[in-house]
Amino acid sequence: MSRKYLFAIIGGTGNTQLADFSPDRKEWIETPWGRPSAPVMMGDLYSVPIAFLPRHGLEHKLAPHLINYRANLWALDAVGVSQVLALAAVGGISREMIPGRLLIPDQLIDYTHGRSETYCEPDSETIPHIDFTDPFDSPLRRQVIQTAERIGLPVVSCGTYAVTQGPRLETAAEILRLERDGCDVVGMTVMPEAALARELGMAYACCALVSNWAAGKNDAPILRDINRNMDEAKAQLTLLLRAGLPSWISEYS
Ligand code: HPA
Repeated sequence: MSRKYLFAIIGGTGNTQLADFSPDRKEWIETPWGRPSAPVMMGDLYSVPIAFLPRHGLEHKLAPHLINYRANLWALDAVGVSQVLALAAVGGISREMIPGRLLIPDQLIDYTHGRSETYCEPDSETIPHIDFTDPFDSPLRRQVIQTAERIGLPVVSCGTYAVTQGPRLETAAEILRLERDGCDVVGMTVMPEAALARELGMAYACCALVSNWAAGKNDAPILRDINRNMDEAKAQLTLLLRAGLPSWISEYS
């Protein structure tokens, strides 16, 4: 059995390119599920070998509901990835999810529909009833949070991510409903990504970048806020990755 060891970062809105990362290899991986969003980019980030995949494509043209999540995760698996940190821009719902902050969510609620959310097909030999009680990998989450604490970054260490279908943003009433459901932030991409990663046996955690207050939470135009606040969240992400990445790697066999 081949050894799986590679750490992957999936880039989201605002992170189509990763600061300080210049890949030395780009590989288009053909998968049984079609083409991934982009070639898998491989190289060193802070002296750690990583794979990087921007889920919206190289030019950020793939809307959340059109992303081939199955191909993306399959391609990462094919190059030997065992751990994934998924970056995702989100809107803040609960009070501490202030734009510019980072959140390492511990739960999610999936409101998406019509996405291919499993590798299980009619001819599959087994049914992957994955345990999804904790949808994000606890050891990887813990390591990321410990790094943030060590360097004094105000990262929010738990919260529930509502995954909406998009590509439109939500109505104010929809956000109130998500709040009543117990959601802290809203975004469009961690499902089915997290479930597919679990089916493939990868450790998957999310670093959510809060870019705006969700619809109806304040009067600022959401789209203007998304652009304004991303830079602050990205600067914190860079500090987090630089300080932590070397210690997050684990070896799977
Ligand atoms: N809603 C959904 N997805 C998002 C948002 C939002 O407010 N901000 C960034 N991604």
